[in-house]
Amino acid sequence: MNRSSSNSQPDALVGWMECLADPTRLRLLRLLERHELGVVELCDVLQLPQSTVSRHLKVLADQKWVRNRREGTTHLYRTLLDELDPAARRLWIVARDQTESWATTNQDQLRLARRLRDRQQGSQTFFAGAASQWDKLRGELYGHAFTTNTLLALLPRDLTIADLGCGTGPVSAQLAPHVNQIIAVDNSAAMLKAAKKRLAHFKNADLRKGDLEALPIDDAACDAALLLLALTYAAEPDQVLREMSRILKPAGRAIIVDLLPHDREEFRRQTGQQHLGFAPEDVQQMMSRAGLANPHITPLPPEPNAKGPAIFLAVAEKD
Ligand SMILES: C[S@@+](CC[C@H](N)C(=O)[O-])C[C@H]1O[C@@H](n2cnc3c(N)ncnc32)[C@H](O)[C@@H]1O
Repeated sequence: MNRSSSNSQPDALVGWMECLADPTRLRLLRLLERHELGVVELCDVLQLPQSTVSRHLKVLADQKWVRNRREGTTHLYRTLLDELDPAARRLWIVARDQTESWATTNQDQLRLARRLRDRQQGSQTFFAGAASQWDKLRGELYGHAFTTNTLLALLPRDLTIADLGCGTGPVSAQLAPHVNQIIAVDNSAAMLKAAKKRLAHFKNADLRKGDLEALPIDDAACDAALLLLALTYAAEPDQVLREMSRILKPAGRAIIVDLLPHDREEFRRQTGQQHLGFAPEDVQQMMSRAGLANPHITPLPPEPNAKGPAIFLAVAEKD
């Protein structure tokens, strides 16, 4: 804004000048220009009684030089230069220049730095005692889902991902907000119906009925393919992996989670699985045979309350 368009009215000009015509208020404005501070902090930095500081803050607030907001029982003050009338802002800049070399304002800055360090003391004391408990406390206080969401936010937005043997769609539902398209495939009408309900509000989720052994997806259509807890249901795992490889773009990523070898025959029978888990070296060979390069298999640490057999994570890239 140019100068002539922001010429002030006499009352306003006199009001601003009166506000600035006090060393304590100038000191306050300097402090509050960069930091949001409470009255107790201001008293400490200015070394003035609360009644004096509050009185000056009221003058500044009445004239809209500072704003305050409540946080718990504390009122935090701040100068909002951008919200000042341009003429008042210019007056302040002139006044502030004049305070630059004052010994008092330099002392204020030193006490302010110490006060700001004190603010961190509380968190440092807390974490000094909480380090050994933090992981547990973190979950108790804030839950676990936000960590997954944070990591999902790292994904490039333009990905097309296949969720093979999607079941009721828990994985697709987590991925859908973060990627371009999800193609979810399953051959169970009941599971797909539940997935459709869960994914109804995601326009980028495309649910398809089909077999893992003959996927209803074009060649090289996907950036990544997930096969979570589904390979163990396949009569011909090699064929499933060939299909997984076929639908991937060059360098597309294949990710499998399934069971490590176990001997729980009753569990296998009850869950309708075809295999008693897979040895990492067998998965590695199957992936290589299917044209999935650099297979990397990691046994996952069993979670405390997980009742099923231990599982692995396998990651490879389309050759
Ligand atoms: C244990 S569920 C896992 C679902 C999901 N991936 C998850 O992590 O929750 C296995 C899913 O694979 C599906 N499935 C098993 N064999 C299949 C096949 N040959 N073709 C397509 N889907 C199959 C089942 O219908 C079931 O929904």
